[in-house]
Amino acid sequence: MKEQKRENFGSKLGIIMATAGSALGLGNIYRFPCEAGANGGGAFLIVYLVIALAIGTPLMIAEFVIGRRAKQGPIGAFRLLGRGREGQRRTPWTLVGYLGVVCAFLILAFYTTVAGWTLGYLGKAAANHFSGQDMTQISQQFTDFTNHPWLPIVCQLAFLALTAFVVARGVKQGIERWSKLLMPLLLVIMVILCVKSLTLPGAAEGLRFLFAPDFSKLTPHVIVSALGQSFFSLSIGMGALITYGSYISRSDNLVTTATSVALADTFVAILAGIVIFPAAFSFGIRPEAGASLAFTTLPLVFQQMTGGYFFCLIFFLLLVIATLTSTISLLEVIVTALTEELHLSRTAAAIAGTIGTAVIGVLATLSFRTASPIHISGRSFFDLLDHVTALYLMPIGGLLIVLFVGWRMRRKDMLDELSSGLVSEGSASRASRFLATSIRFIIRYIAPVAILVIFINQLT
Ligand code: PHE
Repeated sequence: MKEQKRENFGSKLGIIMATAGSALGLGNIYRFPCEAGANGGGAFLIVYLVIALAIGTPLMIAEFVIGRRAKQGPIGAFRLLGRGREGQRRTPWTLVGYLGVVCAFLILAFYTTVAGWTLGYLGKAAANHFSGQDMTQISQQFTDFTNHPWLPIVCQLAFLALTAFVVARGVKQGIERWSKLLMPLLLVIMVILCVKSLTLPGAAEGLRFLFAPDFSKLTPHVIVSALGQSFFSLSIGMGALITYGSYISRSDNLVTTATSVALADTFVAILAGIVIFPAAFSFGIRPEAGASLAFTTLPLVFQQMTGGYFFCLIFFLLLVIATLTSTISLLEVIVTALTEELHLSRTAAAIAGTIGTAVIGVLATLSFRTASPIHISGRSFFDLLDHVTALYLMPIGGLLIVLFVGWRMRRKDMLDELSSGLVSEGSASRASRFLATSIRFIIRYIAPVAILVIFINQLT
């Protein structure tokens, strides 16, 4: 096998931040409230939390294990590790890698539609478009913006170009530097927003919606939506973390990295819920409002704040950056595949990946318009991409990944990956061995069964 020189993330904080950068994004601030709103609030939240911690975190670890062991992107990693003891040349596991790359491509296409909106809204915030406007006017602004003949497309393409620019420069300089600086800042501003939202009149009703579970709402669809949302939000089931895992050095521990990112990601999703639902109920916006929920509620909250103009501007700037660190990780999957499989240069791969995404992505953006013809069996193309990736491709990808790590990889290799980077003496070593064995048990038995049951349940 040809040895490739591979860049590594520079520091422990660097990987945590880059992975957090991938995980934190529109999934938390835009998609989580949308899904929780559409699926009944509290009951969805509970299922979401259980799945994110019990299945999502072990799956994150499993992806890191594959990536760091193989030091390649998903396609190469499955090809290499899938050969197993018999050392076969061809293995069907490589297809799981391809599935991941296709999934990354489809997600990036519709993700950049919303990413473009964040850029558009940053412009609106700077031009003070929200000041003095009421609920009806602000929601009209959202409709006008998404129906504008060219603006959302230009914003989307600009966002893609920005992503390509960072990815072309490589992991260390590009991804790591951005994430380290800006993710903590986003957290601070979310907390400030929370405080404001909670003090609005009628906020309690929104909190009740988010936290008081009504289990009569718990259908198989709600559960699979929670599964899809947790995979989407943690960036798992499609190889992004296999790719990032391939840049992690041996001295870092995969379990602690994955767990801290999963906790941070879940925390930010809940924060977004605490900002959005109380405010939405206070302004009389329906929790099922869908795409417009975040983009209508947030500007209204900023209006109620002293220094609202300033906070709104900073918030959309940080949202653009949080979104950018996620689009970077998606494009990185495609670029790694193109450089490793087709031997393109990083720049050429970034350009090719971007052009491909732009074609599908623009269709997704166009399909968002009221009365757009780009609908397939009653769903907009945008919704279709979201639906197919989160409810089908990511659960199937996730299932195959845990099966691979649990049953195909050598036990010794896996346990070695799990405990590397931990203290290896005395009782600490016994504790770390116990931890590794427990995680292996979850990856082998619990996660695959749970994913399968949830997935099959929704099909019937
Ligand atoms: N996790 C990202 C978010 O929540 C989206 C994403 C999905 C990124 C899959 C990479 C891979 O916004």
